[in-house]
Amino acid sequence: MRFTWLGHSAVHLAAAGKSILIDPFFTGNPKHPQGWEGGLERLDAIVVTHGHEDHLGDTVRLAKKYGATLVAQWEICMTCAAEGVEKLQPMNTGGCILHEGVRFCMVPAFHSSAVVRDGKAQTMGDPAGFVITLDGIAVYHAGDTALFSDMALIQRLYRPKVGFLPVGDRFTMGPEQAAIACNEFLELELVVPIHWGTFDLLHGDPQDFARRVSRGRVHLATPGEPFGL
Ligand code: NI
Ligand code: MN
Repeated sequence: MRFTWLGHSAVHLAAAGKSILIDPFFTGNPKHPQGWEGGLERLDAIVVTHGHEDHLGDTVRLAKKYGATLVAQWEICMTCAAEGVEKLQPMNTGGCILHEGVRFCMVPAFHSSAVVRDGKAQTMGDPAGFVITLDGIAVYHAGDTALFSDMALIQRLYRPKVGFLPVGDRFTMGPEQAAIACNEFLELELVVPIHWGTFDLLHGDPQDFARRVSRGRVHLATPGEPFGL
């Protein structure tokens, strides 16, 4: 499996002929590797963890361009359907689906998921993380979340080997808490810190995270540069 971090929480997974994007925030993302999309030939699915703009991002545009299936919370799917996205796999917390050979499990995240339009917050349902199993490897993308001890249950149920965890602090867990997730609750072989450095508001330091992790290998990814397990 090939992983590519695209800045912020955007991640591309490629394996067994499948191409999947998670939280494709391209437009307005200062860490997005410009031009990357030009090399993307196919896109089977887009997974969205919650409704905030820095995660929903370019979902509607990309789903239409590639004919990709949107895998997300019910409310996010219905919102995107109204904007013209045709292939939908709505889910809710605790559920798994097997879609075209890929298993998607929606797991809890402690965060919020409303969008503000005309000064009013509209709910986009509960926020989520996902465990995506493709070609025999389970990948945990935690979305935006606080630390919670039931990450141990996620490990027990879905056995992720690879994890993408937020470390930027302020809106999510910071380096110290994300390291506790790795050292005490998860059993990842490879962990990649995300949701850091995009904006000045995110002060969590991925090097601090890397120093604290004692279980699993930390990869400080460069946006646009693919890596493997
Ligand atoms: Ni968020
Ligand atoms: Mn976010």
